[in-house]
Amino acid sequence: MDILPLLVVLLSCRIEAVGAQMKLSPLTLTVLRGKEANFTCSPSNNKWTVMVWLLNGVATLTISNESGPLPTVNPNVTAVKSKDKNSWVFVLKKTERDNEGSVTCDLQGIDRKTASLFVQEKGSVTISGENRLAFKGQPVLFECRAAGWYPQPVLQWQVNGKMVNEAEYNISSEESGKSLFTVTSNLSVTAAKSSHVDCLASVSALTTPLNSSIRLTVVAEEVQEDDDCTFPVALVASLSALLLLALLCICTVLCYRQTRRAKANPQEAIRFDQSVYGRSPVAEATEGKVNLGYSSEGATAARTVWSVSV
Ligand SMILES: *[C@@H]1O[C@H](CO)[C@@H](O)[C@H](O)[C@H]1NC(C)=O
Ligand SMILES: *[C@@H]1O[C@H](CO)[C@@H](O)[C@H](O)[C@H]1NC(C)=O
Ligand SMILES: *[C@@H]1O[C@H](CO)[C@@H](O)[C@H](O)[C@H]1NC(C)=O
Ligand SMILES: *[C@@H]1O[C@H](CO)[C@@H](O)[C@H](O)[C@H]1NC(C)=O
Ligand SMILES: *[C@@H]1O[C@H](CO)[C@@H](O)[C@H](O)[C@H]1NC(C)=O
Ligand SMILES: *[C@@H]1O[C@H](CO)[C@@H](O)[C@H](O)[C@H]1NC(C)=O
Repeated sequence: MDILPLLVVLLSCRIEAVGAQMKLSPLTLTVLRGKEANFTCSPSNNKWTVMVWLLNGVATLTISNESGPLPTVNPNVTAVKSKDKNSWVFVLKKTERDNEGSVTCDLQGIDRKTASLFVQEKGSVTISGENRLAFKGQPVLFECRAAGWYPQPVLQWQVNGKMVNEAEYNISSEESGKSLFTVTSNLSVTAAKSSHVDCLASVSALTTPLNSSIRLTVVAEEVQEDDDCTFPVALVASLSALLLLALLCICTVLCYRQTRRAKANPQEAIRFDQSVYGRSPVAEATEGKVNLGYSSEGATAARTVWSVSV
């Protein structure tokens, strides 16, 4: 059993705890520019007189054990006594990019500890162009631009809330003047069904990514043919259907009559039969001789449709 190393570790921890004169927390803090940054300095006992806070090595705020914070020339910092009576919270009210660096708590003559502050910049994100309309199977290109970020933002694509694999898009990044980053990305998707396409940009201090959303509407393939061709095709189809219906009606009526006459006078039925089959059924329909009701309806319907085509 490795009891010895364990004892050594425990012992060293205890020594450290006893030896520590103060605690500074957190030791690293990342905030967005403009947001507050808090650091807490907790002396292990109340035998201290002066606590000095330094920003990037420059003394910024002094706290006296007796009288609390001394007046400061920097309006952006303040200190608040923590619930734990002996500790002080150093508050940097509106962080600026140049505040990034070290934050030090110096207990004069006792101990000094330094933490790191990172200040990030939230930029913008936009998918260029309007909502898209595409035919099924067509490739559609989306361009996303995340501008004015620090550090370089993570850019991701989502289609219908599902993360797109990194292999499916390209990313390029450039740094502009004030160490701000602009990241652009192209995503090509094959139109399959109507979807929401989101472009997300984020840095670690941002709790939820910034998001730009666009709609892709996919149109069915049939409409893909030339418009001036599809209309007549549809027209002819409906017209044929109507004619077919009319013919069906005429035939039914004729058959009905024929069977009735056949019952009444078999000889006449044969003659009638000949006369009917000697003429074109369409002619019968349009003349409206055989059955006025059905055939005129068919003719009216046909006229209506044709007037649309004009
Ligand atoms: C910083 O500390 C102040 C005073 O204790 C508190 O009001 C504020 O909410 C704190 N801010 C953050 C971001 O923790
Ligand atoms: C610091 O202040 C506490 C009371 O807030 C007091 O008890 C303590 O003696 C002071 N320490 C020194 C070194 O003045
Ligand atoms: C305080 O913050 C303002 C803007 O937030 C800045 O212009 C000014 O320089 C800061 N003051 C100091 C002393 O850092
Ligand atoms: C990414 O770039 C490579 C080479 O520059 C190219 O071959 C590929 O098609 C691009 N992919 C996308 C999704 O734009
Ligand atoms: C995205 O496409 C545009 C043109 O469509 C091109 O200029 C640009 O370089 C592409 N960006 C990437 C990251 O591939
Ligand atoms: C992005 O924004 C759109 C609309 O604002 C929203 O519907 C969608 O849920 C957002 N996506 C994410 C991942 O936040």
